[in-house]
Amino acid sequence: MNYRQFARENVGEIRNTVGEGAAISALSGGVDSAVATVLGHEAIGNRLRVVFIDDGLMRQNEAREVRDAFKKLGIKVKVINAQDTFFKALKGLTDAEEKRKAFRDTFYKTLGKAVRESKAQFLLQGTIAADILETKKGVKTQHNVLDQIGISAKKGYGFVTIEPLKTLFKPDVRKVGRAMGLPKKFYERMPFPGPGLATRVMGECTPERVEIVRKGCRIVEEETKRAGAFQTFAVLMTDQATGVTKGGRRAVGHTIAVRCVDSKNAVTATATKLPWPVLQKIQRRIVKEIPSVTKVLYDLTPKPPSTIEYI
Ligand code: XMP
Repeated sequence: MNYRQFARENVGEIRNTVGEGAAISALSGGVDSAVATVLGHEAIGNRLRVVFIDDGLMRQNEAREVRDAFKKLGIKVKVINAQDTFFKALKGLTDAEEKRKAFRDTFYKTLGKAVRESKAQFLLQGTIAADILETKKGVKTQHNVLDQIGISAKKGYGFVTIEPLKTLFKPDVRKVGRAMGLPKKFYERMPFPGPGLATRVMGECTPERVEIVRKGCRIVEEETKRAGAFQTFAVLMTDQATGVTKGGRRAVGHTIAVRCVDSKNAVTATATKLPWPVLQKIQRRIVKEIPSVTKVLYDLTPKPPSTIEYI
């Protein structure tokens, strides 16, 4: 496949579809939306409005890094701070499916508002072939977003989605990103779930608990860089466990599970055989940099029977 040619053809197609109008793209920092945004910007320049919904569940410095990286590409990103809305929606919820539903509802409400305010007639989406397959199987609700944000083309809004990547699978999307000059950091990124760190906080998802897991994820990502794993992160458990303070007193603290898996397509996965010194360093850094943690565990479970994420 000629990736430059794919990009050229799709840029032309987006340009024809949008005509003199405007489109909006919701950038998440992930590979798919980043590549779709770059194609859209190449096609229609500033008539592509780019928004980044900051849900408070992103990795450390994500909003700033995405905004800065795209600025370098000449693409202006409007950051919508929706952290309070998301945390309010998640408040008191401990059940995995309820948390996912609260996230989804809030995301679509926020996106719907941004789309209406932008006055764009087109929504540019980074839907890829796997999303369409999974939507058909009922695993995801990523495709057919318009109905979910309350803007139905059928209702006479004349609103249209553009999905330039819908025939591609992830490895090809990465190559299109590289051909389009996207920084390596973006086109080589490991998968990060839509509901963000909410998938890595067991129990209630409060800003404090998210902050603990955000620090944990950063440490695990930094220390496993050389392992070349498919995905790697930390998870905050609900159970607390006993430890000892520096003064020798018993203390109850948080438990963090470390997840690092090898996989081709996320359908099956196995725990990465991390060298013992790497695991030890992760453990040392976590208890030092997050003093409320008293236990660090390494998850050995393959998928199946487990899943990669925890909710
Ligand atoms: P599981 O946990 O089901 O995850 O083994 C498989 C892959 O999918 C990612 N994942 C998601 N991605 N929205 C996404 O865009 C989601 O709600 C979601 N849940 C899980 C997960 O990170 C892994 O790569």
